[in-house]
Amino acid sequence: MSWREGVVYQVYPRSFADSGGDGTGDLEGIRRHLDHLQWLGVSALWLSPVYPSPLADWGYDVCDYTAIDPQLGSLEEFDRLLADAHDRGLRLLMDLVPCHTSIEHPWFREHPEWYIWAPGDGPPNNWTSAFGGPAWDRDPASGRWYLHSFYPEQPDLDWHNPAVVEAMQGVIRFWMERGVDGFRLDAIDRLVKDPELRDDPPAAAEFGLPLLDHERGRDLVHSRNAPGTGGALAALREAAGEDAFLVGEVYLPTARAAPYLEHLDRVFVFELLHSSWDAESVRRAVGPAAALRGRPGAGPAWVLSNHDFGFLAHRFGRENERAAAMLLLTLPGTAFVYQGDEIGMGNGPGADPPRDRIGRDSFRHPMQWDSSRGAGFTTGEPWLPLVDPEVRNVADQRRDPDSLLSLYRELIVLRRDLPAEFEAADGPPGVVAFRRGERLVVINLSGERRAVPGGEVVLATARDALGPDGSLAAHAGVVIAPA
Ligand code: GLC
Repeated sequence: MSWREGVVYQVYPRSFADSGGDGTGDLEGIRRHLDHLQWLGVSALWLSPVYPSPLADWGYDVCDYTAIDPQLGSLEEFDRLLADAHDRGLRLLMDLVPCHTSIEHPWFREHPEWYIWAPGDGPPNNWTSAFGGPAWDRDPASGRWYLHSFYPEQPDLDWHNPAVVEAMQGVIRFWMERGVDGFRLDAIDRLVKDPELRDDPPAAAEFGLPLLDHERGRDLVHSRNAPGTGGALAALREAAGEDAFLVGEVYLPTARAAPYLEHLDRVFVFELLHSSWDAESVRRAVGPAAALRGRPGAGPAWVLSNHDFGFLAHRFGRENERAAAMLLLTLPGTAFVYQGDEIGMGNGPGADPPRDRIGRDSFRHPMQWDSSRGAGFTTGEPWLPLVDPEVRNVADQRRDPDSLLSLYRELIVLRRDLPAEFEAADGPPGVVAFRRGERLVVINLSGERRAVPGGEVVLATARDALGPDGSLAAHAGVVIAPA
């Protein structure tokens, strides 16, 4: 199995480990905890943005693409982290934010023509920001209106301008030359917009993924995913090189995300992340996405949680966290694990006043390494409060062979031997079952026991998952080698 079929671990740098005692996680903290990732058996880590940023969107508003936020470290520390990760056989993916910059990026003043401006005095169309309200704001300095698909502090770059393409290619080369293994590409379905800035027309059908109220009812065909996207992706690929691993955050239903795989290696399957925990919806989300293909080796990236939507235990229910982990880690393609999910962290209370204006603090509470006052995360005051280190933490769970953490580790070991083939299998109501070659994965999403085929149990979500009659407990999963 190539590392690309393994597990990528998402590090949210400010919340992973603080080496300096200022309450904010940093690169050196990550480096000192690489042992955890190696022990867990993941193949790679993805760093959410570590670039200098005014933090309107906590790093997704970048004001220098080729530097490290001084609060998180320096380029030297980055190089050390990368070298140590490689020494341990771990790959490293950066988060590239090519769709918009921070409004404080010097480009916004030095190269205004790199951004998207309204031709007249006011919003030229009905496009809305992903975070609410119109996608247009007036720049007080010039009096002109600019486009922002996210916060007003994040003006959109104009990918129809060759100078923008060239600048972003330069950024990609900078990090590739430093030795990174690829990128997670932020909001990549928003890269190319209709150059004529036409209104998004009324929707003929449902979008297929959850949208905020203000985004519903329109067919989002001009404000994103416009013709020309393929060319822009080709430019990213050209700069990154054939061997770079490129994972797209494409917030589109699977069928519409498929063309991205002509240039990218993976697209996240948001249909599974947003699926309710019932067998029918999970089957519907998994089937078509498992069949995704494209350039050689291309396929799906599975994700059940992240810094935007919350922890796995919260999304699918505490009682299902083990079965959900088994599902995630036995699907073909790449599985993405969000930091903290491996110990069952749940959404927290957030902060008052909030750090993130649209309410995502709850998904970003610091990692809980041990049960001490600072949870082993910091010796200072954490930037977001700790949630429950005395209830769940890495140190305790590492000692316990029945812990969730130990299950993650066993699943990741098992994953290495799963053959590439995937085939949906029949199962009783409430059950999702599929074959990976000889292995049969059976996940019981129902609240009752379910019969499963006989065979040798390779791994179960809990010791008592299978009863004496061979039936599978509610909320449990099992991997079987048929007799
Ligand atoms: C992506 C990121 C999210 C960010 C947005 C704008 O969706 O995951 O955190 O707010 O892009 O960059």
